[in-house]
Amino acid sequence: MNADQIVGRAVPRRDGPAKVSGAARFTAEVPVAGLAHAKLVCSTIAAGEIVGIDLTRARSAPGVVAIMTHDNAPAMRIAPLLITLQGASFTRAPVMQDARIRWNGQPVAIVVAETPEQADHAASLVRISYAPTEARLLFDDLKIGAPQPDHVQGEAPAVTLGDAAAALRTAHTSVDRVYRTPWHTHCAIEPHATTVAWHDERSLTMWDATQAITHSQATLAEVFSLDPQNIRVVSQFVGGAFGNKMMWSHQILCAAAARLAQRPVRLVLSRSDVFRVTGGRTRTEQRVALGARADGTLTALVHEATTTTGVNDGFAEQCTFPARVLYGADAFGIDQRVVELHTPANSSMRAPGESVGSFALECALDELAEQLDLDPLELRTRLEPAVHPTNGKPFSGRHLVEAYRLGAERFGWAERSSTPRSRRDGRWWVGQGVATATYPYTRMPGGRASVTVSADGHATVRTAAHEMGMGTATVQAQYAADHLGLPLDRVHFEYGDSRHPAAVPAGGSAQTVSIIASVVAATRALIAELLRLTASDSPLAGAGTDDVSLRDGGVYLRDGGAGQSYPDILRRAGRGELTGEGAASPPTETAQHAMHSFGVQFCEVRVHDVTGEVRVSRWLGMFDTGRIINPRTAASQFRGAIVMGIGSALSEETVFDERTGRVLNASLAEYHVPVHADIPPIEVAWLGHPDPMAPLGGKGVGEVGMVGVAAAVANAVHNATGRRIRDLPITPDKVL
Ligand code: MOS
Repeated sequence: MNADQIVGRAVPRRDGPAKVSGAARFTAEVPVAGLAHAKLVCSTIAAGEIVGIDLTRARSAPGVVAIMTHDNAPAMRIAPLLITLQGASFTRAPVMQDARIRWNGQPVAIVVAETPEQADHAASLVRISYAPTEARLLFDDLKIGAPQPDHVQGEAPAVTLGDAAAALRTAHTSVDRVYRTPWHTHCAIEPHATTVAWHDERSLTMWDATQAITHSQATLAEVFSLDPQNIRVVSQFVGGAFGNKMMWSHQILCAAAARLAQRPVRLVLSRSDVFRVTGGRTRTEQRVALGARADGTLTALVHEATTTTGVNDGFAEQCTFPARVLYGADAFGIDQRVVELHTPANSSMRAPGESVGSFALECALDELAEQLDLDPLELRTRLEPAVHPTNGKPFSGRHLVEAYRLGAERFGWAERSSTPRSRRDGRWWVGQGVATATYPYTRMPGGRASVTVSADGHATVRTAAHEMGMGTATVQAQYAADHLGLPLDRVHFEYGDSRHPAAVPAGGSAQTVSIIASVVAATRALIAELLRLTASDSPLAGAGTDDVSLRDGGVYLRDGGAGQSYPDILRRAGRGELTGEGAASPPTETAQHAMHSFGVQFCEVRVHDVTGEVRVSRWLGMFDTGRIINPRTAASQFRGAIVMGIGSALSEETVFDERTGRVLNASLAEYHVPVHADIPPIEVAWLGHPDPMAPLGGKGVGEVGMVGVAAAVANAVHNATGRRIRDLPITPDKVL
């Protein structure tokens, strides 16, 4: 341990200078000799069969190297579904193995040419004819209360405690509302990109914009029946990723096309390809019903939802999860059905489920507070449970009431008028809203790391982890420096390559603690190796791993005893460097405890009385996410998530043509994410109580920041205007 802790300092991002100076090479820029370029051709119907493929004109277009369709694609196995040790895919739709069409936008051909422009042009000349069949596309058929359709694919596990329906009927006060949220699409600055080079029939390298290196390696091994050891996946820089830079059809097709073309092939998705080929966030319809006593305590909490996924896919958007965790109630009725439609797959997108689920739950709570004439924070405080309300486990650390109190002070919540439509500034109605945030703590199994110390006094930590811009490289160097007792500038952190020890995906807000747990294991192995090297006259001779601590650049007997620096041990043993490698301990901390990140979102809006335009004018997020390793990168994570939440509240919506299943707004011109002018200064703060059960006391910061944001905006819009909008996004037509 360092006497002066580096963990907790606002260290600037290590990858920052390379990114802002243009020195960073992204997947679409990696130089590869003999590279050819690919373009996808995607279906224009949602369901049916391909009945004809005419490649005549495309084949004779300039620069064409190869064209692959299901007629000449190699046999490929189906990728394992969801994130497991065997892979990370959100679909089990077979890729180009048959003539069947499963969604509008499914890749049906891939054209390889000498230049990207030639590939684009030749792809435009491919003619596919289809025999359409009837597609299931109408979300409105799935309304809550409508008969169960025949294509219910699965359900998120229901939670039934007591008789919530009966409690609701006899409650002193109740609200019973339906909320809707639209389909969302991932809009990272860098579109998905991949480059594949085969070395021989059995080995390849894939450069990929991914948040799942080890799992992509495993997926390719499964799909192409290869030994994972013969597959190298490299992902040094990623230009943003929010849950779906995992394995999709485009990487598999790029690899297959590279084999067919006998050339390295690069495939960069266009923005519209991102909308059509990769999955987004499902539409939801959610019913929240709350039954309460006069003091606000809940007799019934009902949260029922319908969400969708594509045919052959299987990701249940867990929008009913916050309702299990946040509030005490006598009876719970929580249920969710997942229905298959002929759409792109539903995939994880920042705070999957929780972000849109909290919109419904936190708006309903605001409605209840108003009916009871209670301050919404006072109501939430009265509902604070002593233990996890639906599984009975104690919380490892939950300080929401403190967050409510400190957040309210800092935001000036007491000055809010509780009467809707009562504050005005010129043409603008002004209002404030609040909502609670929660996101589960996860530490994924399967992560490994190595730690190397060298005779020149440096240490290098290696793991196949991901830096998508959130600060991984920086915070891990900080942690390792403290753990090894070295100055920060003596510690390297190498990542982004499957040649390093296996890592968990950067998902579920789980990467940071997962890596820390594997560095702990690797360091223990390193200490054992170092002690083995020490000579018989060393003060460390005969010491065991538990007898020593790491500080001042070396290994020392505990309690201030003597020891040796790392270079001293290595030099005396005639070694240039020494490595320890280890696997993270199994994530058993969640067996006995309910572990979650928490937060509370305070929002002020101004709503124009003529145009209905909603401007967010002030924000405070107060978070309870355990120990903060780096205030600079954590604050940036929270802010980014809040920006994304504001997008979901006010503008983001992927629109499908319900006759054809085609995305109508597959571009950033028509799918509106917030720009700088839409975002006020965002204040973020945190309690910083280390979680006693988590490695280093840290919990996830990547996703919880998005939870509750849309509800806080909607509640503020109600406070400003008296209008309840239960249907995202909150566009002017709904406000007026
Ligand atoms: Mo997060 S949506 O699990 O990357």
